[in-house]
Amino acid sequence: MSEFSDKLLAWYQANRRVLPWREDPTPYHVWLSEIMLQQTRVEAVREYYNRFLIRLPDVQALAEAPEDVYLKLWEGLGYYSRIRNLHKAAQMVVEEYGGKLPQSAEELMKLPGIGRYTSSAIASIAFGQKIPAVDGNLLRIFSRLQSYEDNIKTPAALKEASSFYLSRMPDAAADETSLDAAAAKNGRPGNSRGDFNQALMDLGTAVCLPGSRPACEKCPVAVFCRIHNEKPGREMTLPVMPARKERKVEPLTVFIIRNGEMTAVRKRPARGLLAGLYEFPNAKGTLEQDDAVKWLRKHGVEPLRINRLCSAVHVFTHKEWHMTGYEVRIDPFCDAADHFIMADPQEIRDKYCIPSAFDAYLACIDPAYRHL
Ligand code: ADE
Repeated sequence: MSEFSDKLLAWYQANRRVLPWREDPTPYHVWLSEIMLQQTRVEAVREYYNRFLIRLPDVQALAEAPEDVYLKLWEGLGYYSRIRNLHKAAQMVVEEYGGKLPQSAEELMKLPGIGRYTSSAIASIAFGQKIPAVDGNLLRIFSRLQSYEDNIKTPAALKEASSFYLSRMPDAAADETSLDAAAAKNGRPGNSRGDFNQALMDLGTAVCLPGSRPACEKCPVAVFCRIHNEKPGREMTLPVMPARKERKVEPLTVFIIRNGEMTAVRKRPARGLLAGLYEFPNAKGTLEQDDAVKWLRKHGVEPLRINRLCSAVHVFTHKEWHMTGYEVRIDPFCDAADHFIMADPQEIRDKYCIPSAFDAYLACIDPAYRHL
């Protein structure tokens, strides 16, 4: 093993985060955790992960689950194409791979929702394949270790980072004698290729932090870090990133249409942003009250009373919704139900997956509503 991985893995043994998917890293557990962890913080994932496994404990159960069940389990996590792809992939695993996840990164990439990074993470953590799982954290660490001053978000940087890590990763043959054995003694089935990747993930979260906060004094591999040794105090200048594109702002008017305890919801279109999820009726633009009433009448709703609600902003990757809200009390005999689903708070809680973009308005109808 390289001196680099010796130091890194020893640090990991002492400092690793205890996370549910690390304690019992079956292929299904690792797969589910890696999909949940795409674009989502570890702390946010924990509870979702545990709850998901109680309801859908294995690939078979996931493959057979109805849409509303798996969407509801994902409610609030965002990026819903992840769960749709996970479900599709589970069906493929059952039908085409005899219920067992393929073991190599190359095969894993053939499944929906599993790209370069995720296939490498699963193959190394669940199956011990010697392959680095290079994400933003690993790119940042690499840029500092190698004092890499070009744009980090290019295929060339990714290639260099991958070969840098690959040449420092332990071999499978080291298993019996090395830290894998130490890990096994601690009661967990470690494998040093998976641990190498996860050690770097933890290093990126706890030590080699982005921006001005790297904690180099705690870093187990500081002796190998070129920027730290050649230009101390300049660690935060790396990685070099391209300027961020501005997000498009979309104004939206959201209606909480109420008839007694019932509130109007509707299903979003099957394609596009938040496809197939449920939402409160809404119109493009920021509507003043007169236009809001016109919109409501056009949708079969006769308002008895209309109140302005709070404004809210929800940030997606490429756009922002700037929302204005109205609470609308309606004539019980108008035909809102022809246009919308009228649901009580319990039904909304149990049945309809409403993305967190609408959280500010969800709180109006059910203050106790929380995603978890
Ligand atoms: N982020 C992505 N995969 C992870 C893992 N296995 N452990 C911690 N953070 C992660």
